[in-house]
Amino acid sequence: MLLREDHREVRRLFREYRGLVAGDGQGGEDARREKVERIVEELTVHTYLEDELFYPRLRQEVPGLADDMDRAREEHHVADLLCEELIRMTPADAGYDAKAAVLIDAVERHIDEEESSWFPKVRAALGRKELREMGERMQAVRETAPRHPHRQRQRQRQRHAAPHRRRTGGLNGPATVARELADSSSG
Ligand SMILES: [Fe+2]
Ligand SMILES: [Fe+2]
Repeated sequence: MLLREDHREVRRLFREYRGLVAGDGQGGEDARREKVERIVEELTVHTYLEDELFYPRLRQEVPGLADDMDRAREEHHVADLLCEELIRMTPADAGYDAKAAVLIDAVERHIDEEESSWFPKVRAALGRKELREMGERMQAVRETAPRHPHRQRQRQRQRHAAPHRRRTGGLNGPATVARELADSSSG
């Protein structure tokens, strides 16, 4: 599953970042900054895919998860804010590693919960074919997903300013994905 592969990659980056911090106590500012930039990019793409394709599907297919989904979205939002702050800082700034550590801890808890609670529910609710189709849609949207938290929020604002999009074709419809692709190639 594509989301699980993302999680594996994110966890690997987290380990590498922790290794840099633990190594000589400083880990080299360039190396730490590069690692954080990679983490921010991975997380931005990943949370975008979940917000657009995975969570809405989960909400639709598994009754009684609305509160959990609301909380998960807020967790994404908090991660976005921390990412946005981090990329405006440098490792020389006070609090850089502390902020990164808070981000990493929060995201680790979040993905543990997704893997233990929600992935199995979606697997149980969807057939093999539907899972494959969702994976293919994610792969297509990933190509043009925002890679910067600022771009991600811009995209969200555009969507809220154009609520008709949610009514035409549904969030999971191929039309929505096509629009996402069109939007991101034009902007
Ligand atoms: Fe998530
Ligand atoms: Fe996730």
